[in-house]
Amino acid sequence: MPDSPPLRRFPARYYLEKYYTNVGLENAAFMRAAARSVRPVERLGVFAELGGGPSLCALFAMVAATRVGPTRVVWMDVASSCLKEVDDWLRMEAGAFDYAAVLQWLEDEFDVDRSELAGRVRGAEWDMRRLDLHRPLPADLWGVGDVVGSHFFAESATGDEERFVEMTSHIGQAASPGALIALSYIRRSRPYRLQDDTLYPALSLDEDNLQPLLARAGLKFAELRVERGPIDDPPARPDYDGMVFATGSLRRTKRSL
Ligand SMILES: C[S@@+](CC[C@H](N)C(=O)[O-])C[C@H]1O[C@@H](n2cnc3c(N)ncnc32)[C@H](O)[C@@H]1O
Repeated sequence: MPDSPPLRRFPARYYLEKYYTNVGLENAAFMRAAARSVRPVERLGVFAELGGGPSLCALFAMVAATRVGPTRVVWMDVASSCLKEVDDWLRMEAGAFDYAAVLQWLEDEFDVDRSELAGRVRGAEWDMRRLDLHRPLPADLWGVGDVVGSHFFAESATGDEERFVEMTSHIGQAASPGALIALSYIRRSRPYRLQDDTLYPALSLDEDNLQPLLARAGLKFAELRVERGPIDDPPARPDYDGMVFATGSLRRTKRSL
């Protein structure tokens, strides 16, 4: 299977509309897991997301849970279509994706005003990086993140275990010592299609095989919680069976890069 579909043409708007127009079981569990991951802190500091795509949902959930915005956001993705969706939302461009359902759910769940929440996200210093995360991070991003997230990214960017491990090692590369980590994965995904005939790769992950892969990627957790998430009924795609969340904090000793 080709490992590099035309990712630069990732169908960002289609993806947002398909997966983030409503909050069902999956999105609720995903955002609750992201929110739980930052429970130990009162400030987000520098937030880094790898393979963030066009979706701000995990960041919204973290800001809703802490009620503070990050000082800086480092947003990494290979697809310019994704970076443009994020940029349009930040600039409040006419036609930017409407997160109304997500923001309303967060308002209800966390008793936080959704306009304030959006304002805190928009108020951070944003650093958009178009990067191929098969490659190591540029040196200026090493150790940058106080909070590092990655959601539905590496397991949908490769079907190869070694490449997954390599991409995942960049999460550790972006993290400061003791950083909080929030990871979400599609559970037992098979290769899948989105808008057209492009077949996207997938690595089949579950609660059992994920932890050894994270360890192989050099992520040394002081605490790690791995849990299974639900699946919508009906599922958004026929080729997976739920989600897996891995949240925790890294040890304070920095591994050698
Ligand atoms: C399934 S989407 C996940 C988007 C988002 N994180 C979310 O929570 O919905 C996978 C993302 O990984 C990005 N991606 C795939 N391969 C990549 C690579 N080699 N380097 C950087 N980003 C990549 C795609 O552009 C896409 O935005």
